[in-house]
Amino acid sequence: MVEEIAQSKLHVAIIMDGNGRWAAARGLPRTMGHRAGIDALKRTLKAVKDLPISHLTVYSFSSENWSRPLAEVSELMQLLRFYLRSDLQSLHKEGIRIRVIGERETLANDIVEMIENAEKLTSNNTGLALTIALSYGGRQEITAAVRGIAKAVSRGEIKADAIDEMTVQKYLFTAGIPDPDLVIRTSGEKRISNFLLWQSAYAEYVFTDVLWPDFSATHLAEAIDEYHMRERRYGATGGNSLE
Ligand code: FPP
Repeated sequence: MVEEIAQSKLHVAIIMDGNGRWAAARGLPRTMGHRAGIDALKRTLKAVKDLPISHLTVYSFSSENWSRPLAEVSELMQLLRFYLRSDLQSLHKEGIRIRVIGERETLANDIVEMIENAEKLTSNNTGLALTIALSYGGRQEITAAVRGIAKAVSRGEIKADAIDEMTVQKYLFTAGIPDPDLVIRTSGEKRISNFLLWQSAYAEYVFTDVLWPDFSATHLAEAIDEYHMRERRYGATGGNSLE
């Protein structure tokens, strides 16, 4: 049983927090922290290859992040453009399948085009499923799903009484992606911050004090170990009584 758990591939989701504090600690502008954050993301993608991970979801820009100073928002969008331009081909060669979740209508047209291109190019890849949460908020996602379901009901496509959890799942941005097993948040904050609210109902959470730009393969492996330790503990005690 333990072996089975150890073998099964996981969906790991990461709240990449602490770029600003990492930069401030070095007397650097916050944007340098975000650049170092991209490097940490690249390291993480490499580390994933040696770990039992089939899905990785990263929180790169929340719906709430739009209220940051314009210069920082622009820099983050610029970094995203740069990253997709410079790394898309190598991600594709690695067999990574890219999906972007979030409120696309809030993004610049050229970014939407880049995202569509990345999703199309990598759609048949069978390696790691990388989901980038961009202009994403869990409440916004659930609200959009409710709106979509209400429209389907009004068109007569769904009966109100037939709506169940599967229906809701189908209308979420993450339709078709399994729920996360493990959610990691860096930088010592212990909040969910509107990330994958529906999907994380049964996820394990690992909070680490490490700031995102310092996050390494070792930290990721430690978080997975912690996840397996918890699984084994629940196995030994007959499971979590609430589940
Ligand atoms: C939180 O740190 C991080 C973000 C708001 C952005 C995360 C983005 C990256 C890691 C790089 C961009 C990734 C892509 C794919 C473009 P913070 O700024 O809130 O840090 P603080 O809490 O220390 O201020």
